[in-house]
Amino acid sequence: MARNGHIVVTGGCGFVGANLVHRLAAAGEEVVVVDDLRTGRREHVEGRCRVVVGDAGDPEVLGPALRGCSAVVHLASETGVAPSVEDPLRDLKGNAVTTVMALEAARRAGVRRFVFSSSGAALGEVEQPLHEGRVPHPLSPYGAGKLAGEAYCQAYSASFGMEAVALRFSNVYGPFSAHKRNNAVPRFVTRALRGEPLEIYGDGSRSRDFIHVDDICSAIERALQTEGIGGEVFQLATGVETTVKELADTVLELTGSTAGIVHRPARPGEVERTSVDVSKAARVLGWRPRISLTEGLCSTIEWFGSARS
Ligand SMILES: NC(=O)c1ccc[n+]([C@@H]2O[C@H](COP(=O)([O-])OP(=O)(O)OC[C@H]3O[C@@H](n4cnc5c(N)ncnc54)[C@H](O)[C@@H]3O)[C@@H](O)[C@H]2O)c1
Repeated sequence: MARNGHIVVTGGCGFVGANLVHRLAAAGEEVVVVDDLRTGRREHVEGRCRVVVGDAGDPEVLGPALRGCSAVVHLASETGVAPSVEDPLRDLKGNAVTTVMALEAARRAGVRRFVFSSSGAALGEVEQPLHEGRVPHPLSPYGAGKLAGEAYCQAYSASFGMEAVALRFSNVYGPFSAHKRNNAVPRFVTRALRGEPLEIYGDGSRSRDFIHVDDICSAIERALQTEGIGGEVFQLATGVETTVKELADTVLELTGSTAGIVHRPARPGEVERTSVDVSKAARVLGWRPRISLTEGLCSTIEWFGSARS
């Protein structure tokens, strides 16, 4: 059901953004993307929306795009744990500060609904399974920046009556992710399709919850539609824990690659396990992930195959 007023998607030319823009446009929504194209590609959303090229943290750029807007989905961010450990101040500016600037621009424009893309990294190393009741303990500047963004969403909801909600994505994979070279699925699929060995950082026993981007986009849609969730945080994951070694073996099997696996030194700032309890999102948003890892990997491998040719 289309809304009254367009939806602004910051970072809409990126991986999650491009998938979301396709989905919203197919549902009849009018979408305006604000993206400075630092990692995103305009051609991924061509013909589906209007694209404003510029910094989502700059009020001169975001402010005009918000006129007549009904909701903001804020995806624009510096991403990745390792880059934030290498350059924490760059992460601060592109992550937490950009979120606060986007919230403030939304407040000034009178836009009440704001959906923020947080990350499991905001929780960091805590007792498993992860859920919204755990006290956060971020291990990286990236996680700290996402936690700060969550806190500002809560403060803007409480102080200004906004419906600002934070969605903590686990490890997302799917089409339009070829540039996500720090992420396991695109790295493994790219190398497997080239017949190169898959590189695992550490011994491969670290576990993650890999979720297909279509499931993330359906949760964002639910967050756009659900009333009374201002200031809330939701963990978004499948609830299925997979080790990095299991993921690598599955990618090798599905691509038919015989190139095998090589191990590299483990990277700092990363948690050992990710096991997620997603019952709050099911209860409050009425959302459930639908796509199994094998099903999602098959369609992702297909996309990478056609994107390469
Ligand atoms: N992909 C994942 O596994 C994952 C997991 C947890 C959280 N997230 C969060 O989801 C969001 C989207 O991530 P993604 O994987 O699609 O990353 P991405 O890098 O593919 O997309 C980010 C987009 O934002 C744009 N961008 C970045 N900073 C900007 C700025 N200041 N102004 C305007 N545009 C800017 C980039 O050009 C890019 O198009 C991010 O906030 C990320 O932290 C992603």
